[in-house]
Amino acid sequence: MITTFRIRRFNPETSPSMPYFQEYKLDTDRADTVLDALIHIRETLDESLTLRCSCRGAICGSCAMRINGHAALACKTKVQAMASERGIVQVEPMNNMPVIKDLVTDMAGFWEKVRQVQPWLQPAGQEPEAEYLASAESMNHLTGVMGCIMCGACVSDCAALEVDERFVGPAALAKAYRFVADPRDGAGRSRLLALNEPGGMWDCTRCMECIEVCPKGVGAMDRIMSLRGQGIQAEVPSTCGARHAEVFADLIYRKGRLDEPMLAVRTFGLRNLSRLLSLLPMVLRAFVRGKVPKTGPFHRAIPGLEKFRRLFQRMEERP
Ligand code: SF4
Ligand code: SF4
Ligand code: FES
Repeated sequence: MITTFRIRRFNPETSPSMPYFQEYKLDTDRADTVLDALIHIRETLDESLTLRCSCRGAICGSCAMRINGHAALACKTKVQAMASERGIVQVEPMNNMPVIKDLVTDMAGFWEKVRQVQPWLQPAGQEPEAEYLASAESMNHLTGVMGCIMCGACVSDCAALEVDERFVGPAALAKAYRFVADPRDGAGRSRLLALNEPGGMWDCTRCMECIEVCPKGVGAMDRIMSLRGQGIQAEVPSTCGARHAEVFADLIYRKGRLDEPMLAVRTFGLRNLSRLLSLLPMVLRAFVRGKVPKTGPFHRAIPGLEKFRRLFQRMEERP
């Protein structure tokens, strides 16, 4: 099968150093991975093509790149599965991190954010004579998150990071969860307090991309939601993020549907006039586009609310 690889190239040492796409045609086998093809291109067509890889078995995490617009491990992605009808596969470096050359990105910022969550055990109490022990049952739920290979694919495609580089990001937050939920760790509250700050767990927009692209099924977004739940339970100081979640659930319980104006007022607080006023342009746009109900901006409860509330009761009764 002749496949065209459309590869984003960038060399900071050339002038002008602008990224551009270069195409290579290659006869590929149905078993070939994108990494096989890229290595073949480098060995036979263009030795200047720069990429990073090591294990070639989806273990080391070094070959993450964007393939047809989404981050993936090149060594785990079959060419045949990615080739378009016209036999084209587009390959680019990871997003949300600086490009060093061609498909190689600078992951210093990624590691800095992982360090920021203090990814080591901080036990409380007296040091045991031998090891800190935990039962297999109490650790089983952590096996998924411990499977993270730090490839950066989730960070590459994170929608929140794209607009705010202060966001600590899905990989670091999954790592934070790994220690907050470890029964041997004694620093849970201080970890949650740190994650409660701007740039922390409340800045995720729940786009689910980190779940989609993770090659190891770590489920970073689900871990972030668990951290939020633990933060609320531990009563870390209330932030807009935490209030938003609580008020959201309360309004749904009271009215059976979301009451957006009330959600904003209760999340930011009546005294936070500047924040509330900053929403006015959006409210006006909604009004002009007919999105404000005829019954007025504040929504009434839906009929049959009692039946609906049973869902909440069932959720609360769940173990
Ligand atoms: S779900 Fe949250 S953390 Fe995951 S990619 Fe989207 S914004 Fe980023
Ligand atoms: S959570 Fe998944 S995508 Fe993100 S760094 Fe870990 S293994 Fe890679
Ligand atoms: S080369 Fe190691 S994960 Fe792809």
